[in-house]
Amino acid sequence: MSIQTDLQATIEDMVKKGKGILAADESDPTIAKRFKPINVESTEENRRIWRSLLLTTPGLGDFISGVILFEETLTQKTDDGTPLPQMAEKQGIVPGIKVDKGKIPLVNAPGDMITQGLDGLADRLKVYKEQGARFAKWREVYPIDTHNPKPLGVTANAEVLARYAAICQSVGIVPIVEPEVLIDGDHTIDRCFEVIEVVQHAVYQALHRYGVILEHTILKPSMVTPGKEHATSASPEEVAENTVKVLRRSVPAAVPSINFLSGGQTDEEATANLNAMNAMSTNQPWELSFSYGRALQQPALHTWQGKAENHKAAQDALHKRARLNGAARYGKYAMEMEKD
Ligand code: 13P
Repeated sequence: MSIQTDLQATIEDMVKKGKGILAADESDPTIAKRFKPINVESTEENRRIWRSLLLTTPGLGDFISGVILFEETLTQKTDDGTPLPQMAEKQGIVPGIKVDKGKIPLVNAPGDMITQGLDGLADRLKVYKEQGARFAKWREVYPIDTHNPKPLGVTANAEVLARYAAICQSVGIVPIVEPEVLIDGDHTIDRCFEVIEVVQHAVYQALHRYGVILEHTILKPSMVTPGKEHATSASPEEVAENTVKVLRRSVPAAVPSINFLSGGQTDEEATANLNAMNAMSTNQPWELSFSYGRALQQPALHTWQGKAENHKAAQDALHKRARLNGAARYGKYAMEMEKD
């Protein structure tokens, strides 16, 4: 297959009505943070057990079309010896891989960050592809403060995302482009809107400069919300209206799918907000979907508690969140469905 055919086939397998992406790509420090409240030590074996539990959930493929894995997971196996990327494919879920190496402060832009990992990326991607990965994810982070992100932060992060995306496409890997505008802070929803608009314009200008084919990309943005410490929260309708408005201003119609991160929203908020967008937007140029980590995994993790006897109940909890987000893809989620 040519690289273009490969990329198109991956997009078609990932962008499906009623489905979204499961982010299970926590780095070692992040998964340790997630395991701590349930007193599970972050050993390689415990991470294997947890991620096998997720990927062997019966019927997961009915609502999940892609899974983002961490490097280590590509070589781990289920109890019966099936490699985890193969387990995903068996469920009709495309395996992908987080390829960035985390963030560091951006020199000369105090408060802003930049993500590392471009050196040797093409070679790493070729190995990941042999191990079964068909798409990749790279996250840039933008804190909101009075003077952040700074113009340098906006430009530098956009350049890195574009270089990453171009490298991915050159080896037949679909890039998920993730400019995460952080929810931390007491800013208003209007300030969040303003920052996301500036960030996304810069990202799409850079993607154009680097020759990235937008039809073969997925955007993973933050929703437009007030900061977590803001005095009042916003209704799903308010989040939906603002988010769709900023997307229409800044994301070209050639992009096939927009898969939001949950970014610290509760699982129910993330589902209700996505639902409100799909309920109000019947004729948007792109799919409006999810690529949730915490909002899909949290209830399952708390049910599991690291105990084999909770395995099935934890899978049921994951299946429920996947199903409810699947309903939100059609704007057909309702709060009462939480009680099922
Ligand atoms: P959250 O949905 O927990 O924000 O995770 C998504 C993700 O992949 C962040 O990079």
